[in-house]
Amino acid sequence: MKKKILLGLVIFLVAIQFVPISKTNPPVVQEQTLSSAVEPSVTPQVLTLLKGACYDCHSNETVYPNYTRAQPLGWWIKGHITAGREKLNFSEWASYSGKEKIKQAQECIEVMEQGRMPMKSYVWMHPTGKLSDQDEKILMDFFAQLGG
Ligand code: HEC
Repeated sequence: MKKKILLGLVIFLVAIQFVPISKTNPPVVQEQTLSSAVEPSVTPQVLTLLKGACYDCHSNETVYPNYTRAQPLGWWIKGHITAGREKLNFSEWASYSGKEKIKQAQECIEVMEQGRMPMKSYVWMHPTGKLSDQDEKILMDFFAQLGG
């Protein structure tokens, strides 16, 4: 009996490997992005930090690590990307109203202060997500400017 359950589990795990996630990112329309749509302009330093810590889930420039080919891990990660983009997408920044932009910027400060973002599981796997106190300050100052 135990053997059958184990075999079933192995078959299941093998089978789900044939259901990959889509790694096709929505298009990046340059004029819609945070970098194009923001005054004061985004400095290269801020952009590097954002790309390293937030863009994989909050932009259309997601880079998918190889391990997203392994299910159910890939499904789980894809879930974060879909939910993250829905909440906040720096590639579609220009589509937000003035009010929404301010709210988004304020929420960015909030989630960083609370240590909720970048997600812990992301930081474990991505050295670029590990922000020093100074990196955090640079980003929060940027968001403070953004939120007026
Ligand atoms: C691994 C994916 C991932 C990364 C990396 C990530 N986020 Fe998120 N983010 C999410 C998900 C998923 C949600 C929606 C669920 C939630 O609120 O926890 C979210 C929600 C948010 C929200 C909305 C919060 C709310 O309460 O509605 C903000 C603001 C945010 N993230 C900012 C950031 C910032 C800023 C960074 C980088 C410093 C970042 N995130 C990095 C996945 C991510």
